[in-house]
This record gives sequence, C-alpha cells and structure tokens, in this order.
Amino acid sequence: MSKSNSLEHTDVVFSVRFPNVDETLDQDKEWCWLTLGDERRRVRFHDYNEVYQVPGLYEKIFYEMLKCNSPEVVCRLLDGELKKAGFDARKLNVLDVGAGNGMVGERLKFMGVSELVGIDIIKEAKMAAERDRPDVYKDYFAEDLTDLNPETHQALETEPFNCLTTVAALGFGDIPPRAFTQAYNYIASPGWCAFNIKESFLSEGNDDTGFCKLIRKMSREGVLEILAQERYQHRIAIDGAPLHYIAIAAKKLKDIPKEWLPEFE
Ligand SMILES: C[S@@+](CC[C@H](N)C(=O)[O-])C[C@H]1O[C@@H](n2cnc3c(N)ncnc32)[C@H](O)[C@@H]1O
Repeated sequence: MSKSNSLEHTDVVFSVRFPNVDETLDQDKEWCWLTLGDERRRVRFHDYNEVYQVPGLYEKIFYEMLKCNSPEVVCRLLDGELKKAGFDARKLNVLDVGAGNGMVGERLKFMGVSELVGIDIIKEAKMAAERDRPDVYKDYFAEDLTDLNPETHQALETEPFNCLTTVAALGFGDIPPRAFTQAYNYIASPGWCAFNIKESFLSEGNDDTGFCKLIRKMSREGVLEILAQERYQHRIAIDGAPLHYIAIAAKKLKDIPKEWLPEFE
C-alpha cells in the first residue's frame, strides 16, 4: 500500500508517504517518507524522538493512517472493570508509563481521571506532551525507570498511585520487564492496572521479551488478577495487514518480588 497524506497542525505543514513494500516489515523496521518544507527524509516509526518533534506527526502516522485505537480499547476495558466494581474513575491516581505525547492520558481524562503522572524514557515525549496536551499530566518525568535519579524515585514512591497504565510500549526493545516491575511496584495494593501487548509476545515460544512468562507468573502467584482481556486490531501495518494485540485490565494484588527479575531478562 502506498499512501500519501498531508496535514497542517499548528504552524507545521508536513506530508507523509509510506514506501511500497513487497512484504510486511517487522513493526520496529517500518518507516515512511516525511516531507517537511523543502526537506524530505526517511523516518523509522520507532524513532519516537524524531516523530514527536514534529507536532501532529505521531497522530498522523499511527492514529490516522495506521488506524491505531489502543488507547481507546485499553481505557474502555479499564473503565468497564471500574464500573463493574463500582469504583469511581475520579478516584484514580494513574502512573502512565511510556506516556509518549499523552494520547492515553487524554483518554483517561475523558474517563474522569484527574490525577495523572506520565513517564517516558525520551525527553522529546515529555516536550511533546507539554506542547500538545499541556493539561493532561500534573507531572511528567523523562527518565529511564531502570535507572531513575533519586529525586524522581522519591517523588514516585511518595505519590499515592492506585493505577498503572502502559499502552503500546511493552516489548520491541521498549519497556523491559525490569522497568515494568519498577513502575508496577509504585502502585498501591490493591490497585488497578491496564496495558496491552502484541499477541505473539503473550504466546510461549514466540516471546523473547520476557512478558509472557512474567504475566503468567504474576497471575499464578497472586500478584495480578486479570479481570478482562480482549484480542483486537491494534493497528494496521504499512502494507495494510492487521496487527493484533491483547488488551488487559487487571487488579494489582501485591508487588512483583524483585528476586524474580533475572528469570525474565
Ligand atoms: C508507541 S509509543 C506509545 C505512546 C503512548 N502510550 C500511546 O499509546 O500513544 C511507545 C512509548 O514508549 C516509550 N518507551 C520506550 N521504552 C521505554 C522505557 N524503557 N521506559 C519508558 N518509556 C519507554 C517510547 O519512548 C514511546 O514514547
């Protein structure tokens, strides 16, 4: 599929064209042509630092052209479980991990959540969230969860989080089990947790991210109770092929023991 699209977002005008590809590229190899003013260059989708620097580019590629609907699906699943439990979304204090430019935070706000903190490993994500969705997060840290500076750790430790969200950010060399564990353990027990992950990363034999084993063990050992799970089309690939993910809404029951970590790395 070859597609061209242009967008005027704030005062930046750009256009995006997908290359013609004969076969489905791995998700972390997909790229597009970006034309910005007189300049035309290749941008790999997973080079988020480049993508976030152009206002509207992330939304254009992933949400408009590739039909991503993961923030909506994951937040809807969470909202459904909150309603079943009679828990008011306004009482959530959420740590949104791999928050990017705030698409998930925006959805959570729409659900009624008012207390939200974002964290992402790249500074361009924080800058984009502050630029594009300045009212979503009360705080946003651009840091690596596996190597936090002591003040950030202190701030996260003291914040009474009762919900973790992480959307389109597990696996693919993005958030590893160690970073997920660090974030998970900032959430109170009992608490809430909602995330998604590529379907193949949840099937044994196909998972080199460690998440398949980690999530199964969390469930088996009473660390996490899966309340709802849904297989859905996360987005399409640039050749139009569907990419399926699993969305999960769960209850956090207790912390992940740090001693488990070597098993998942
Ligand atoms: C596909 S984007 C998803 C952004 C947002 N959650 C959404 O759904 O629109 C993945 C995000 O995960 C972030 N990320 C990757 N590795 C990370 C890590 N180790 N810790 C925190 N964020 C990470 C990336 O920088 C990127 O912003």
